[in-house]
Amino acid sequence: MGPDHAWEKWGAQDPYYGVLSDPRFRCNKLTDDSLKEFFATGQHHIEHMLETIRKTHSDFQPKRVMDYGCGVGRLLRPLSQIADTVGVDISESMLNEAQKNCPEATLIHPERLNSLAQNFDLIHSHLVFQHIPVRTGEGVLRQLVGLLSPNGIGVIHLTFLVRRLGRLPIPVWDAMQKMRGRSKLFHGLMNLKDGRPFNQPQMQMNNYNLNRIFAILRDANCSIFHVEFTSDLFPGAVLYFKRGCEHVERTCLSWVALSAAPGRAALDAP
Ligand SMILES: C[S@@+](CC[C@H](N)C(=O)[O-])C[C@H]1O[C@@H](n2cnc3c(N)ncnc32)[C@H](O)[C@@H]1O
Repeated sequence: MGPDHAWEKWGAQDPYYGVLSDPRFRCNKLTDDSLKEFFATGQHHIEHMLETIRKTHSDFQPKRVMDYGCGVGRLLRPLSQIADTVGVDISESMLNEAQKNCPEATLIHPERLNSLAQNFDLIHSHLVFQHIPVRTGEGVLRQLVGLLSPNGIGVIHLTFLVRRLGRLPIPVWDAMQKMRGRSKLFHGLMNLKDGRPFNQPQMQMNNYNLNRIFAILRDANCSIFHVEFTSDLFPGAVLYFKRGCEHVERTCLSWVALSAAPGRAALDAP
């Protein structure tokens, strides 16, 4: 089963647990209180993100915002209270749930990204790229940065390439993940080994090469102004970047300053 199909299954069978894999959010465990907790995590996340942006961009007041991979609208809900919001998700069932949770937001499938105007002040994505195969995810990132307005801000979370995950070298881990995609029996047995229901859909994990991500951002004239690392079995980073060409100017200026500085020889020394 491919990752997109697996996400449709998550959306149809257990959408809140698919978003945050905590037993309290299983569909048969959801209560008013656990739903409140679920959405409180989203409110907290968005408050933190806006606070972080405003440390360097104090007058940042986005008017048009996208949440890519919005799931059931956990992060879209607080965003739609401050801006005109578009939520994008690969799963129709997730989109339907998000529409119930955020009636004021526009919800679309990624196929419709091309029809959007390039006027987003903020494009955000959390816990999503890790589930998209790397080459597809790189293409999505190119599309998203192309939709930012001049000076628009992107806040994108990615898991990045490491040599080992836990005790397993990455090639072994990748081979097991591929096997799980190909064989229902193998996937089901691995689910049972980890204490999960046999039929639980796969949640693919992918790790990005940050060199290639930097090149994509650089080509789109984006400058990264803040990075936060996320800790998990899968090391991740939240990249805060701004579209514009300031980084090019700054690099040139510092190079000129460095060339003219008397201590240059010392800087050049090995
Ligand atoms: C773990 S959930 C996170 C949802 C939301 N970002 C949050 O943090 O509340 C991942 C979401 O990404 C969506 N997704 C997976 N692959 C995608 C793709 N290629 N394009 C858009 N959405 C995708 C899934 O359907 C799912 O709703």
